[in-house]
Amino acid sequence: MKRIITYGTFDLIHYGHINLLERAKALGDYLIVAISTDEFNNYEKHKKTYFTYEQRKRLVEALRCVDLVIPEKNWDQKKTDVHLYDIDTFVIGDDWKGKFDFLEDEGVEVVYLPRTPEISTTQIKRDLNNRNN
Ligand code: CTP
Repeated sequence: MKRIITYGTFDLIHYGHINLLERAKALGDYLIVAISTDEFNNYEKHKKTYFTYEQRKRLVEALRCVDLVIPEKNWDQKKTDVHLYDIDTFVIGDDWKGKFDFLEDEGVEVVYLPRTPEISTTQIKRDLNNRNN
């Protein structure tokens, strides 16, 4: 049983998120998604989400490829999560390339997957803002 973990905000779920999560799941058997809490977004990532943590969690949990959702509360928990959840592979989009290589020291494989082009939560918000209706 190969266990995979990934991290993110996952606000206004879009096809870029689905592509990332399906490819992550395809690398193993059990996929854990750590979703950033509202506090972590507000105070550390300086991101204001449209959906609350509980709403984002419900949406991600409903996806067939996702086995478990846990809260991401701080930057440092990855190092302990990988042991707590017996993780084989850490996966994230390549906008983070190189940033989490230190997890290899914990005995975890680190994979950066290419982002799906031309879609992001920020882009969706910007496009909707620019519409007049
Ligand atoms: N992701 C992806 N392709 C996209 C958008 C996101 O593969 N087009 C991946 C990110 O690389 C990350 C995960 O999805 O591994 C969660 O990303 P998140 O930051 O929640 O989504 P974004 O749409 O990038 O949000 P924002 O615009 O707020 O940064």
